Formats: sequence, structure tokens, C-alpha cells
Amino acid sequence: MTDFNSLSFIVSDIMLSLQSFYYVNKFFQMPKYTLSVNNKQMSVEVDADTPLLWVLRDQLNLVGTKYGCGVAQCGACTIHYNGSPVRSCQFPVSAVGNGKVVTIEGLSENGDHPVQQAWIEMDVAQCGYCQAGQIMAAAALLKKNPNPSDEEIDTTITNICRCGTNVRIRKAIHLAASKGGKS
Ligand code: FES
Ligand code: FES
Repeated sequence: MTDFNSLSFIVSDIMLSLQSFYYVNKFFQMPKYTLSVNNKQMSVEVDADTPLLWVLRDQLNLVGTKYGCGVAQCGACTIHYNGSPVRSCQFPVSAVGNGKVVTIEGLSENGDHPVQQAWIEMDVAQCGYCQAGQIMAAAALLKKNPNPSDEEIDTTITNICRCGTNVRIRKAIHLAASKGGKS
């Protein structure tokens, strides 16, 4: 027969195990974030320092945003954050807060943003890898400066294109600007 002392040992053992389970579980649990992406609320559970780029690509399957360098140099991962261009490879998910994130998938309903149309008309893309970032950077520029000079384009859009499409990018930005490209 179990006496009172053994019973209290068993109970305190169970309590300790439950407590450790709670803390271990809490330790390994990822924080949860609700993000506004392309005008939709989306929830993810990831480490606080996860770059937004990987949240977009791996958690939300928005793979239009590309990984190039991972150190905020190439611009392949450019998205809009509250309307400004941001290099998402160096932007931790914990910094997003209530800000609005727009990716290339959300720039326009049917891929018909004036910048996208100008890109098609000028046949800008070569391999295409950098182009989502270029388009996002160009759209953000035209929103701020509807008629940029060549110099303003060159100093603002520092995205790298290894295929050397920069001349066509500049022409396409002027074309989009001539058609009221900030919308
Ligand atoms: S991948 Fe982000 S700037 Fe290159
Ligand atoms: S089009 Fe190939 S890297 Fe820009």
C-alpha cells in the first residue's frame, strides 16, 4: 500500500515534470508574428532575427523576391516597407511590426503597374534574376520622384544587374515616368 509520504513524492515528481515540460516547450517555441503583406494579414512562427526575405520565401511562398548577396548590397531582395524600398535580407521579421510590406507579387493586381508595363515594352530583363528587385526599387523611386533625371536614377537605384541591363532599366524608368508611372 502506498503511504502518504510516497504519494506526495509521486505528486511532486509529476508536478516537477510538468513544470520542466512547460519551460522546455516555452524555450523552443518560436515567437509568432502577424504581418501585413500585400494587404493581407499573415501569421508566421519564426525566430525574431529571421530576415524578412526568408519569411516571404520560405514561410509565405512569395518567391518573387530573390536572394543575391544576403548583405544588403545587390538589391535582389528589395521589397516595399511602408512605401519605401528595403533590402529584406537584412530586415529582421521582428522589426516589421504593423508596417505594410509589399512584394513584387503585390505591386499590382495583374502585373500591370506602369513600371512593369514599361519593363515589358523596353524588353529590360535578360536572365531576370535581379529584375523583381529592380522593379520594386524603380516603383518606389517614381512614387517619390515622378520624373527623375538620369543622375537621380543612377544614385537612387543601386541594385546590381550582372547581365548589365542598366541602360534599359534607365530607359524603362523614363518611359514609365512619361506615362505617370507612380501609381
Ligand atoms: S540579397 Fe539582399 S541585397 Fe542582396
Ligand atoms: S537580368 Fe540578369 S542579373 Fe539582372
